[in-house]
Amino acid sequence: MPPSLLITGASQILTLRGPGPRRGKALADPGVLRDGAILVRGGEIAAVGPSRKVASLKESKDAEKLDVGGRVVLPGFVDAHTHLIHAASRAEEYELKIQGVSYEEIARKGGGILNSVKKLRATTAQDLKRRARGFLERFAEYGTTTIEAKSGYGLDITSELRILALHHELDAEQPVQIASTFLGAHVVPAEYRGKAGGTAAYVDLLAQRLIPEVAESRLAEFCDVFCERGAFTVRESRRVLEAGKNHGLAPRVHAEQLSNTGSTRLGIALGAKSCDHLEYLKPADIRALGQSKTVATLLPGCDFYLGLDRYAPARELIAAGAIVGLATDFNPGTSPTLSMPMVLSLACSQLRMTPAEAIAAATVNAAYSLGREDRIGSLQAGKQADLAVFEVADYREIPYYFGVNLCWMTMKRGEVVYLRD
Ligand code: NIG
Ligand code: FE
Repeated sequence: MPPSLLITGASQILTLRGPGPRRGKALADPGVLRDGAILVRGGEIAAVGPSRKVASLKESKDAEKLDVGGRVVLPGFVDAHTHLIHAASRAEEYELKIQGVSYEEIARKGGGILNSVKKLRATTAQDLKRRARGFLERFAEYGTTTIEAKSGYGLDITSELRILALHHELDAEQPVQIASTFLGAHVVPAEYRGKAGGTAAYVDLLAQRLIPEVAESRLAEFCDVFCERGAFTVRESRRVLEAGKNHGLAPRVHAEQLSNTGSTRLGIALGAKSCDHLEYLKPADIRALGQSKTVATLLPGCDFYLGLDRYAPARELIAAGAIVGLATDFNPGTSPTLSMPMVLSLACSQLRMTPAEAIAAATVNAAYSLGREDRIGSLQAGKQADLAVFEVADYREIPYYFGVNLCWMTMKRGEVVYLRD
């Protein structure tokens, strides 16, 4: 077994320790250690606490030493909403948006998600994998150590399984772990449009063929649906998510992004791990999230990129006691960023979350939304040694310096997967 590693010299270690997930006031306490140390053994955290105590352990004496020189150490970010596998950017739509054409108008004209579907179906698995691997390296550079990744640009059995298989293959590689989600219900594919009963036929296909095959393949843990006008109604979404649940796929929902559809209440009723977006929540939805175990995952990168002035009601959600999470929603159509530090900046300036709240949302609460809170999301003995070290003296400077990457080192299961030269 490789020797243990003793990490010292941090100006702050944000442990995020304690019983997760965090709600309300608990979101604001990152569990800061000022003179702390971390002992890493076999990819896990063996001890974390005051330096003197950790350094005096017998094992620490023989351990390799890493002095992080006054920087800040925190758990690696858990980005619990991404659309990792896609074939190309949609930079051409970016210019249309700037000229004032809305996301929904672009989609109605055959752009949007269908544009990405066309491109993905024409791309080899090898090319998709190469592209995704490049992105995963970037994720690690920004301090992210686990992502959730959704299919949804294939929308036929072969292409969807191809995407999910790539999640599985890439998860086995360093540097970033992947939790895989089936999003066959992203939109109705072109071949089912324009004829009567087309949507119903596709929903049948999802419930009767795609979901059983995906479950059988064991290539996904979760089933997601884009419940929105232009995509799937609450009724259709319920059918898809129930079919997923019956086959052991835990529900997640793209909810209330562009309008209020009732998708949040559907998600909660089905015990969804997460409802994501939430720009158009009603007061009753906020109260319901406050009383549920469903994480409210906010994606401010979308509103920023689309130039929308309506962001999710983060303060109301926190006040109601909801488990608030944050993610990039990395995708080519509404949020082409893989930077969690940028998302933290947006959460602070646009959602009015404090830096501490934003970091808890992006680590411990996000880990809970993936059902992995026992392994990742905080720096505690027994958890994976997944951590990020930032070139700052105070954790508040991570969101403060927006649009730059101050990540200095990223460690995944005890291995350095990124180190700035
Ligand atoms: O999370 N809302 C649906 N899915 C993505 C957008 C995907 C796309 O436009 O390609 C989202 O915003
Ligand atoms: Fe999304």
